[in-house]
Amino acid sequence: MIDELNLKGKRILVLGGSSGIGAQVCVQIAGLGGTAIVSGRNYERLNIVLKRCEGGSEKHSVIPADLSESVQLEELSNTVPPLDGLVYSAGIVQFNPIRFFDVHLAEQTFKINYLAAVHLTSLLVRKKKINPGCSLVFISSLASRYPFFGGSDYSGSKAALEMFSKTLAMELADKKIRSNVVAPAMVETALFERVRDNISESNMNKHLERLPLGPGNPKDVANLCCYLLSDAAKWITGMRYELDGGLSISAFK
Ligand SMILES: NC(=O)c1ccc[n+]([C@@H]2O[C@H](COP(=O)([O-])OP(=O)(O)OC[C@H]3O[C@@H](n4cnc5c(N)ncnc54)[C@H](OP(=O)(O)O)[C@@H]3O)[C@@H](O)[C@H]2O)c1
Repeated sequence: MIDELNLKGKRILVLGGSSGIGAQVCVQIAGLGGTAIVSGRNYERLNIVLKRCEGGSEKHSVIPADLSESVQLEELSNTVPPLDGLVYSAGIVQFNPIRFFDVHLAEQTFKINYLAAVHLTSLLVRKKKINPGCSLVFISSLASRYPFFGGSDYSGSKAALEMFSKTLAMELADKKIRSNVVAPAMVETALFERVRDNISESNMNKHLERLPLGPGNPKDVANLCCYLLSDAAKWITGMRYELDGGLSISAFK
């Protein structure tokens, strides 16, 4: 089992690798012997992550790309070598209450959180960049099942992403390619801080009180991602894993 948990010889693309959960996933892939290809828009942050990865730029690489641009998705799919793993951690949260609905905001959220994931995966499949046995991990959110005020775009885009992963698992199982979802509650990252800045302190405290184990940190999520990327999880596909900090038991306290 312990042997199967290592990622030696595996080449893994991490979208949203420049920050938060994705950055931590890259560091842990490197620590487990894998090779990380770190992608995001911000070149400076990408290089900081590269330096944190054991083996540095000799073993790992960065590919900058804006996932909202179809042309850049094409370029990314041409540049990457064939993959043994992919983690889609890119995501944005924007507040769009129905009374003030802004279609442009909704389009942006769906583009990054859902459509780019589908488009890029499709390009990679068509260009034979997904090796047999490859493991795909999509970072969703607990918000796909629990609504929050102004969050219909975010929750909807994550629910769509989850169903995409399940469909993909069905379509690619004959090549032993696996697809799974990790759905965390609140995790302390830059995105978490943006949420904190946009809602009242009392509302934020209410959310946090529902987590008996408190908010997660990126390592808590990266641990599960690395397990799903490894051969120890080779019989797992089409699944959704909630990392909820105990939220499901808080109703019974
Ligand atoms: N933190 C939480 O509480 C929480 C809870 C549940 C689920 N999640 C999910 O976890 C994932 C990671 O979030 P995080 O908390 O780690 O947030 P984060 O620190 O803000 O990271 C978001 C990542 O998405 C990338 N990204 C955003 N727009 C992009 C674009 N147009 N093109 C390419 N990359 C883009 C960012 O890269 P650049 O800025 O460099 O482009 C960054 O690497 C997201 O999908 C989020 O929805 C987070």
